[in-house]
Order: sequence, then C-alpha cells, then structure tokens
Amino acid sequence: MKPFAKSMARIGTESAFEVLARCRELERQGKRILHFEIGEPDFPSPPHVVEAAKKALDQGFTHYTPPQGILELREAVCEEIERSRGFKPKPDQVIIGPGGKPIILFAMLATVEEGDEVIVQDPAYPMYASIANYAGAKVVPVRLREENDFRMTAEDVNEKVTRKTKMVVINSPQNPTGSVLSKEDVTGIAEIAEDNDLWLLSDEIYNRIIYGAEHFSPATRDAAAERTILVDGFSKAYAMTGYRLGYGVAPEKLVQKMVVLAINTISCVTTFVQLAGVAALKGPQDSTAKMVGEFRARRDLIVSGLNGVRGFKCANPKGAFYVFPNITRTGMGSAECGNYLLEKGGIAVLPGTAFGDAGEGYVRFSYATSRENIKEMIEKLKALF
Ligand SMILES: Cc1ncc(COP(=O)(O)O)c(C=O)c1O
Repeated sequence: MKPFAKSMARIGTESAFEVLARCRELERQGKRILHFEIGEPDFPSPPHVVEAAKKALDQGFTHYTPPQGILELREAVCEEIERSRGFKPKPDQVIIGPGGKPIILFAMLATVEEGDEVIVQDPAYPMYASIANYAGAKVVPVRLREENDFRMTAEDVNEKVTRKTKMVVINSPQNPTGSVLSKEDVTGIAEIAEDNDLWLLSDEIYNRIIYGAEHFSPATRDAAAERTILVDGFSKAYAMTGYRLGYGVAPEKLVQKMVVLAINTISCVTTFVQLAGVAALKGPQDSTAKMVGEFRARRDLIVSGLNGVRGFKCANPKGAFYVFPNITRTGMGSAECGNYLLEKGGIAVLPGTAFGDAGEGYVRFSYATSRENIKEMIEKLKALF
C-alpha cells in the first residue's frame, strides 16, 4: 500500500466515538450503561418538521438544489437572524450545509493556511483545532479557567494575538463547559478582531439552549459583513441531529468561496431536509422552549448531585447541555476517571482531555438524558466514591 497523505497526521478525531464503541461492546456483553457521553438532545424532532420532510418527499423534492441552499431556507435564516441577533443579513450571506460542522470546515479551509495562527478556547469542541491543524495553521490555545466560569475574556485573547493571527474561534454557549460569554467578553474580543483585521468564527449552535443569561453574537457588530462567520444549525435547537442541517452567515465574498468548497464536496444539502428546515424556523417554537425548560431542571439536578459526590466539584453552567466537573480531588486523572466510571459504574462520560490539554482534571457529562438516569447515575457515583 502506498503511504497516506501526510496531512492525515495533522487531523484529529473525537474520542466520543471511541467511548461509544466501548459502550456498545459492554452492552453486547449484557451490561447496562448509563449514557452521559452523547452530545445530542434525547427528544424527538418537532412533529411539524417530520411532517414537512415527509410531505417534501411525497411532492418530489428529491433533486439537486443550488449548492448554497434553497432561497426559501436562506430567507428563513435571514428572518431568524433578525429575530434573534438583531440584524438582517442578505440571503447571499447565507450558506446551508449538512450540519454546522461542514460550515466550520468550509470557513476554515477558505481562510487559514500554513503560516497562520488560529486562537481557540481550551478545552473546546475538538474540530476547531483539528481542522486548523489540517489546514496547516498553528493552533494557539487559550486556557479557560474554572475560577472564571470557563469564559474566554478579551484579555486572554489579547495576550495571544501576534502578527500571524488570522482567526479567533469563539463558542458560546460552550461545549464542553457550558460557559456563556458576557456581552463585555464578546464585545472585547470583537474589538480585538477589528483592530487586528482577523476573522472571527462564532459557533452559536447552542444559542437557544441558555438558562437565565442572554446570548450575544459578535455578528451584531458587523452584520456578518466584514469578518464574523456565524455558525448555527438545527441539530441542537430542534433535536434534528440526524437530518444533518446547519448554516453559516458570513461576508458575501467568503460565502462565495465556501460555496466552491460545497460544489466540490457535497453538491447540496438533501433537498427535502432543507424544506424541513424551513418548517422548523417558520413553525411553532414550543418544542424548543419545552426542551430547554427540561434541560434546565436536569442541569440543576446534575449540578447539585455531582457536588454531593466525594472528590467532585461542579460549576453551574449557563448554557448547552453539559457539565464539566473538576475531579482532581478523586486522585484520578481525566482518562483514568472516565475509564473507571465506565468499567466499574457503567457510566459513560468523556475525559476533559478529549477537548484539549486544559481539560485535564475534568470529565464531561452530557445531561441529554432523563432525570431518572441522572438520579441513578448520582447514586452509583456516591457508591463508587
Ligand atoms: C460546539 C459545537 N459546534 C458544532 C457542532 C456540530 O453540530 P452539527 O454538525 O450537528 O450541526 C456541535 C455538535 O456537537 C457542537 O457541539
């Protein structure tokens, strides 16, 4: 066999998939596993969305669409951005993708390369560093601090900016910590991006899953017309992970480059899925509100539960559906703790190190699972520690 491309050595993976494989193996052996590793809502997609997808199939929406996405959906996105972020982009600033992930991929491939530096939160969603590396850029991590509610501040970013910095990536509400950036944080980081002429990639996939805090988008400053790339999608807000549907709002010239990447790879997003997306944005929003209410109750349950377990110390996150407890006082490292929980307790979590070096000393629990499962998990943890 000929050797693989050298670039493959620079791309990372997600250990969530490895943990999932081990879970399946244990389940095949008849063991009961409590799943806290999965990052997807455990709710059905709203019924009117399912109906819209079926209807679109029946009506023959089964052929290619323009690679940028159908106009009806891009217009619905513009209205959603106006409602939620306070500015109305042009449909030419919107690109539809098969999930938020390909939007992040296209945006990075179109903007960063060898010789560039990309500032990312650490810990963070793994693909930012992975794709920046793959593109040949240098990843510059900003270590998030528990004392600071895992927020990345403008000072943190300022310390890392050099002449080579090309992009800053922010994610709020954040995976894996659940942290939410304040208006001051977002404004300060956006000002640094403006002063240094940087791209600002803002992953806002969890913007609707927020508790008692407000979501601020840096895109409100430049109407995503100068430097901000806003990423959002349907996976989390509408429990539509398997549909594969997301979008980016960015400067028109960048969108044109991203469309070239779409033409070369996906051609377009599944046509009837795009129509389901229109129904999600334009239809009733009560499913999302109900889901977020339930997530909030679970957050309260899991945070107080974990703080009652010896060796665990858990902050109270304001968004997403993750908690990121400090486990250093258990005497174990992240990976060791994750393995111990799975093998001894049948509790699947992700080690903090799956999200970067600064995740050492933490594990991530996703509370996209029932309150009964949370209560059972806490009882098992109390017995283990
Ligand atoms: C921070 C963050 N961004 C983006 C995504 C991608 O979601 P999708 O590609 O399903 O839209 C996820 C999914 O877990 C995420 O946690």
